[in-house]
Amino acid sequence: MADKPTVVMMGLGYIGLPTAALIASRGMQVTGVDIHRNVVDTINRGEIHIVEPDLDGLVHHVVHKGLLTATTEPVPADVYLIAVPTPFKGDHKPDLSFVMAATKKIIPSLKKGTLVILESTSPVGTTRKLQNLILKERPDLKNDLYVAYCPERVLPGNVLHELKHNDRAIGGICRESTARAIAFYKHFVVGDLHPTNAKTAEMVKLVENASRDNQIAFANELSMICDAADIDVWELIALANKHPRVNILRPGTGVGGHCIAVDPWFIVSEFPEQSQIIRKAREVNNYKTEWAIEKIKNSALQFEASNNKKPIIACMGLAFKPDIDDLRESPALYVTDTLIDQGFTVLQVEPNLENGNGRELSSAKEAVIAADIIVFLVEHKGFRSLSFSDDKHIMDFVGLT
Ligand SMILES: NC(=O)c1ccc[n+]([C@@H]2O[C@H](COP(=O)([O-])OP(=O)(O)OC[C@H]3O[C@@H](n4cnc5c(N)ncnc54)[C@H](O)[C@@H]3O)[C@@H](O)[C@H]2O)c1
Repeated sequence: MADKPTVVMMGLGYIGLPTAALIASRGMQVTGVDIHRNVVDTINRGEIHIVEPDLDGLVHHVVHKGLLTATTEPVPADVYLIAVPTPFKGDHKPDLSFVMAATKKIIPSLKKGTLVILESTSPVGTTRKLQNLILKERPDLKNDLYVAYCPERVLPGNVLHELKHNDRAIGGICRESTARAIAFYKHFVVGDLHPTNAKTAEMVKLVENASRDNQIAFANELSMICDAADIDVWELIALANKHPRVNILRPGTGVGGHCIAVDPWFIVSEFPEQSQIIRKAREVNNYKTEWAIEKIKNSALQFEASNNKKPIIACMGLAFKPDIDDLRESPALYVTDTLIDQGFTVLQVEPNLENGNGRELSSAKEAVIAADIIVFLVEHKGFRSLSFSDDKHIMDFVGLT
């Protein structure tokens, strides 16, 4: 591979754009490809379309130095990276259509010796499918194509640091593919690069999120047991965690986001017989959200019976986790929308959203004054300093009060 390989990044979202900018900042020529013209135009102006600290300055710098160019069509390059979405379909089966569409798009540009790396979170066997798709259309590359999988494990909000410093598991479809992919990441990663095969690397990513989902499910199940037993779950967990080898996580309203709530299904859909606990954890975390809705509805009905009027319910937090504005797969949003759909009077509070995206938002202070029932759905920092009068009914699903 050339000293400074040329690179094409397929997909310029939360993963693709910071990765493309970081690679370009190491002096490599990067072409970013996205299907959305507005994304391409924004980046070519040296601006960004996503929220991520310090990314705007880096993109501005590499675009103006001519090292990063965005376009809608791939160009010839030494290395192709794919970071497009991998959602699931209605039946919890993975939707690989974006990965396959991006792969098809690069096929005409591939030359002998090209390295193709998949970064999208993918079910086991996807890297092999990608290789087969390429070789079906380009049999001339049979002995001269290198394909690898390298999962991304960055934390939104700290992406630029983590892209560079996190360890990575890198698995090729053959030893030479692994070696070439590791040599490529060495250009811009200082974390340790761990060689493996493609299937293991694919599973590593899925297992990281499934493991987290399982731990949260345990905490959520405990919260429902404690409710039935009339035990304060927060005190219980704090005391149990005094044991030197116990570390129970915090329960919540459920599990959301585009990773932990999605990736375990990639294992379950492929290995339904074997993945009993992984499936159960998904079900428990989803059930916790339904359980919270029932609790709130019951409190509202009790309020109405005692006060002869319908209560105003303040839903505190809509995002899928604390202190962000991301609503994807958010259980708090689901609780709020379900209550609204069922005719309850709801004040929606999400201090991290700059505009409501069509929702009528209330400020936290207004909501706690106006509401009869205050429901904490997300553990946003700003909620801790709120004070409210004694006549309010507080329902705290996240341990804020
Ligand atoms: N965002 C995260 O924090 C995170 C963390 C770890 C892993 N991942 C995984 O990384 C992958 C990408 O996630 P993301 O958050 O960057 O998604 P995203 O939706 O922010 O960005 C994906 C981009 O790909 C573009 N795209 C779709 N089809 C395309 C095609 N055929 N050709 C070129 N571009 C195409 C979309 O327009 C979009 O801009 C997913 O598999 C995700 O699960 C994401």
